[in-house]
Amino acid sequence: MNRKVTVIGSGNVGATAARSIADKELADVILLDILEGVPQGKGLDMLEACPIEGSDSRVLGTNDYADTAGSDIVVITAGLARKPGMSRDDLLLKNCDIIRSVTEQVVRYSPHCIIIPVTNPLDAMAQVVYRVSGFPRERVVGMAGVLDSSRMRAFIAMELKVSVENTHAFVLGGHGDTMVPLPRYSTVAGIPITELMDKATIDRLVARTANGGAEIVKLLGTGSAYYAPGSATVEMVEAILKDKKKILPCSVFLQGEYGIHDLFVGVPVELGARGVEQIVEIKLTDEEAAAIRKSAAAVKELVDVVKV
Ligand code: APR
Repeated sequence: MNRKVTVIGSGNVGATAARSIADKELADVILLDILEGVPQGKGLDMLEACPIEGSDSRVLGTNDYADTAGSDIVVITAGLARKPGMSRDDLLLKNCDIIRSVTEQVVRYSPHCIIIPVTNPLDAMAQVVYRVSGFPRERVVGMAGVLDSSRMRAFIAMELKVSVENTHAFVLGGHGDTMVPLPRYSTVAGIPITELMDKATIDRLVARTANGGAEIVKLLGTGSAYYAPGSATVEMVEAILKDKKKILPCSVFLQGEYGIHDLFVGVPVELGARGVEQIVEIKLTDEEAAAIRKSAAAVKELVDVVKV
């Protein structure tokens, strides 16, 4: 194939995304990890599934960044999970070091790529990638809102017993407890959910969306969600590779949009071959604007800790 996507981190999210890119025959896939053998084994296993899936994508697992050279897109899922005794800030600083070193290598071998950071805390890690890469803001676009919106769509469909295909959900803000789902822009077959459900039901779905990641962590016992994060990442990869100009909520470096300056926060953007082709600004009520400012302040706190 003539397109190349590298996925850094061959853990749950990375492997799930890589497999889906290969299944959909979107590009050749390089899966890279520091663990020896794991990316090679998973990559070969995926390659061996391709004849059944009818995909001519080539998948290669590696520990060597030279294999990633000339990638069109690089997805970064490398990171550590929080261990007992580790504070949130310890984890933040550890993942920051990982993302720094990964980004340096990515830029060295694929200076023209578009980077999709996925590692959490997402918005702060995206800011590290942006600063270290020196890329224009169009080429660093974080995955968070697509996942949060997909969760909200699933909950809306379950509640109203309608097809997920009829649902559309709108989530702004940082990826975390302070995210801002917007019910009046969330629809079923074009009808705002505010016309279809009472406030108590909407509040319940909004709260479940904001706690979506934690709900899965609690159920799994160890580790965090990966099927929906993998799918969300691949929707972004596909929009870029196919130059779809698709409007998706993504974490981008805002420079005055929504009144936010020099910070990665989730907003609707148009994704195409050049990465972020446009930032879409919509009118917010005072209450919604206050919520997004609060969410941005939570991202700023993390960014201040890692000093980027
Ligand atoms: N370079 C490359 N890979 C690395 C590095 C590094 N410097 N450091 C760690 N890794 C790899 C690990 O070896 C592991 O295989 O990153 C992988 C992470 O995989 P998991 O622990 O399975 O984590 P996962 O569930 O995939 O989540 C990854 O995505 O959604 C976010 O919150 C999630 O930040 C987390 C990230």
